[in-house]
Amino acid sequence: MSVVQRENLIPFQSDAHKKLWFHDKNIALFQADCLNRETFEGELFDLIVTSPPYNVGIAYHSNNDELNYESYLAFSRQWLRNCYHWSLPEARLLLNVPLDKNKGGHHSVGADITTLAQQVGWRYHSTIVWNEGNISRRTAWGSWLSASAPHVIAPVELILVLYKDSWKKLRGSKISDISKDEFMTWTNGIWTFNGESKKRIGHPAPFPRELPRRCIKLFSYVDDLVLDPFCGSGTTLLEAQLNQRRAIGLELDEAYCKLAAQRLVEAIGLF
Ligand SMILES: C[S@@+](CC[C@H](N)C(=O)[O-])C[C@H]1O[C@@H](n2cnc3c(N)ncnc32)[C@H](O)[C@@H]1O
Repeated sequence: MSVVQRENLIPFQSDAHKKLWFHDKNIALFQADCLNRETFEGELFDLIVTSPPYNVGIAYHSNNDELNYESYLAFSRQWLRNCYHWSLPEARLLLNVPLDKNKGGHHSVGADITTLAQQVGWRYHSTIVWNEGNISRRTAWGSWLSASAPHVIAPVELILVLYKDSWKKLRGSKISDISKDEFMTWTNGIWTFNGESKKRIGHPAPFPRELPRRCIKLFSYVDDLVLDPFCGSGTTLLEAQLNQRRAIGLELDEAYCKLAAQRLVEAIGLF
């Protein structure tokens, strides 16, 4: 598939596959299903920053977060493949996933999603470990003070760094807006900052602003086009806007679209 002129293609209109909830000059939020390949046509995006549902039984309104593991992997394969097709050859995918899953069976989620991503074409670059300071407190120890069946839990999440065809960026504005301190700190692959309060944002699994901010500033140029296919409360869009990137968000659920649109209106103004 040839690379299309994305400047002419930023879709700011609803169509059969997506309903527009918010747009300004640089940002668009759609209610849409990222499992549907027809949501976009052609290769559009420079950077994808996202966190999919973790399949840990979170009460999202519109998607089942308690699939059996095989179905969860099939779901992951489908959206990873779609994002691959919607990305430019130099695109990067910054993918926040759990390291593992310990409830209802032990699964190496991070490793399995890394493998799936590579099977659909993404190339592996590296992994950032997010040391989430305020992750919920331990309650299950397994066999307390006994070797019979202790539980080991790492209070971290992963941010997988993947890319499409070529790691080196030759296209785009070539303008980086990262400071020396930010570059030196963020290229160390252990990132330490707190998670965001669900209550404060009104979404069950919001990004802390710091996560998309770092991904956007470290891995994209000013004016690049960013996608968050699971945009929830719209945190990636907010950070894209604040950091002079263009961005499109997809979200399945109407209530979360309303919430994200409200956050964007507060930050940017009415459209
Ligand atoms: C982990 S949350 C992302 C939260 C987001 N990073 C934020 O800052 O608020 C995952 C989101 O994906 C949405 N979702 C689930 N399945 C989807 C699908 N097939 N297409 C689009 N969005 C989906 C859920 O409704 C939920 O809001």
